Amino acid sequence: MAKKTIHDFQRMVSKNEKISMLTAYDYPSASILEKAEIDIILVGDSLGMVVLGYDSTVPVTMEEMLHHTKAVRRGAPNTFIVADLPFLSYATSEDALKNAGRLIKEGDADAVKLEGGEGFAETVRVLTRAGISVVGHIGLTPQTISQLGGYKVQGKDFESASQLNQDALSLEKAGIIMLVLEAIPKQLAEIITTELSVPTIGIGAGDKCDGQVLVFHDLMGLFDKFVPKFVKQYESLGSLAVEAVKKYSKEVKESAFPTDKHSFSLSEEITNRLYDKKRK
Ligand code: KIV
Repeated sequence: MAKKTIHDFQRMVSKNEKISMLTAYDYPSASILEKAEIDIILVGDSLGMVVLGYDSTVPVTMEEMLHHTKAVRRGAPNTFIVADLPFLSYATSEDALKNAGRLIKEGDADAVKLEGGEGFAETVRVLTRAGISVVGHIGLTPQTISQLGGYKVQGKDFESASQLNQDALSLEKAGIIMLVLEAIPKQLAEIITTELSVPTIGIGAGDKCDGQVLVFHDLMGLFDKFVPKFVKQYESLGSLAVEAVKKYSKEVKESAFPTDKHSFSLSEEITNRLYDKKRK
């Protein structure tokens, strides 16, 4: 299958066809997503929590993002990949250009994503002018969780909802190709989706967005430290994996694994010669 482009995503929106996005952080998960023909892979900085075991996305570094983006590209050569710019890697336009450039040139991502509203419009402009496709992310922005006062739904009162609406319009004007809306009321997501011409991708933003995104480990039931209301677990791979490891460990202890099926053999003649040599 040919890799989809931003024109394909625009076409899907105009035909009312939803866009599916899911995170991946390594070669096997990326291969699974490509086989399943997901529209877009996001190498999210959520990898800090679900893969690296940090308490938040704040400690994630550029080197970590690059390492994982490269692995994802190897697993999904024909899928549109968006890579997250980690916290403080785009605080100035110079840093943004340098670091977004690395994700595109070294990581082979098709676009970068950054968190923030109209205050980041100039950064989006700089990156877009340089030829880098930028995905915006507003609403609950985990990189600035300390300013938001926790993982809470955003835009619940008139002022904050109006501000998010304004943020979306400013980012679109600055050149974003797509906008992630995280943890906002569905009515606000619908208003923003109707007003924007670029696709909106929701996570905890209701069903009226142009597409949806989830974290791979949440969908597969591989991360149970914190399960937000907007997560739907399609599988419970975490408990299946624990059972498989328990079975393996038991069989090792009982000498039930490995059997001949999983072993290599020498001929009787060579085996005997080796024993004879020992006896001499
Ligand atoms: O890092 C991430 O996985 C994200 C999604 C939750 C949108 O930004």
